[in-house]
Amino acid sequence: MIGILITITVGLLFSLLALRVRRSERALFKWAGSILSGLLAVVLFLLGGIALVGLIRIEAPAARPASNLQANHSPEQIARGERLAHLCTTCHSSTGDLPLDGTVLNFIEAPFGTIAAPNLTAGGNLDQWTDGEIGRAIREGIGRDGNALVIMPSQYLRHLSDQDVEALVAYLRSQPAVEHEVPETRLNFLGLVAVGTGLFPTAVQSDVPESTGAPPAGPTVDYGEYLVNFSMCRDCHGVNLMGGDPEGFVPVGPPLPPLVAAWSAEEFITTIRTGVDPDGQLLDGEQMPWATYSATFTDDELLAIYEYLRVLAAEGSVE
Ligand code: HEC
Ligand code: HEC
Repeated sequence: MIGILITITVGLLFSLLALRVRRSERALFKWAGSILSGLLAVVLFLLGGIALVGLIRIEAPAARPASNLQANHSPEQIARGERLAHLCTTCHSSTGDLPLDGTVLNFIEAPFGTIAAPNLTAGGNLDQWTDGEIGRAIREGIGRDGNALVIMPSQYLRHLSDQDVEALVAYLRSQPAVEHEVPETRLNFLGLVAVGTGLFPTAVQSDVPESTGAPPAGPTVDYGEYLVNFSMCRDCHGVNLMGGDPEGFVPVGPPLPPLVAAWSAEEFITTIRTGVDPDGQLLDGEQMPWATYSATFTDDELLAIYEYLRVLAAEGSVE
């Protein structure tokens, strides 16, 4: 905010200066001076304006109310949520494992300010949130006050069913309280400019359906697609899983369907469980979070993902 004010004020000073030097007697000074300070003023106004757009994008309250999801806290629901919560450990944990005690995200190298994934145990402040507000943060990327969240991978998590979101909420609330102070996420001027231009998108999802179901759980193609959609595979392996974008900010995963279709189901499951693929290649756990996925998925769920990838490979070879 202060950055934006300073930029716009300095922009104003330069435009005044441009007007002043135009009255100067010396021609060179007059023209060079007024063009230079005029240009500077325009650039500063533009930057300030873009940062202001970024600030509005982050702070403007979202009109959408939180849903009335309600976790029932049954042992089965908490157990299901605990599996899914492994997907959050890459960001929301200081240890890389459960519980989700939060941490500053130093792997984000852009100098956009402080970016931290909050403490989601009872030591944080989720006990003041309703279940629906937590669900909205997960699936729609919107904070409790209607502010836009950043970095939260809601573009994938939006695919979670109501049931699975409730399971996550039940698990989050069941965690032991970990007292771990995590600073608030706060974008600096450059971060706001990046949000203002759209280079750095917020996590807000515009059209999440009010209530979302999942296909029946089981080792089926449909269920496999459901799992892949929210598990962020497409972040690194590409939207159609045919290979990641080398220009992007995340590790580049290889095309999955043709690779995996050449493996047996057991080989696929063993690869995710051990991090060693059928060729004996050790997967880099920093790039491909196989241990996280191993903790997330049951054998039946890995089988479902395998079936889905095989169908994609078969469709690909028909075209
Ligand atoms: C890629 C990193 C990343 C992953 C993975 C991730 N989050 Fe987040 N999450 C964040 C960041 C960063 C914020 C804070 C954003 C902000 O304040 O603008 C956040 C905010 C939240 C909030 C709001 C909490 C608060 O106090 O403001 C909730 C709830 C949440 N995440 C739940 C989850 C759950 C549940 C998962 C797993 C299913 C998950 N997140 C996965 C990065 C991540
Ligand atoms: C953070 C990025 C990232 C995410 C998310 C991710 N992967 Fe990967 N994946 C990679 C990278 C990078 C490699 C190559 C790793 C290597 O060669 O060490 C890889 C390799 C693999 C391999 C082994 C390929 C081979 O040649 O042996 C499989 C199978 C795989 N990923 C499946 C998945 C599935 C299924 C998901 C989602 C449930 C997923 N990945 C999510 C980055 C990712």
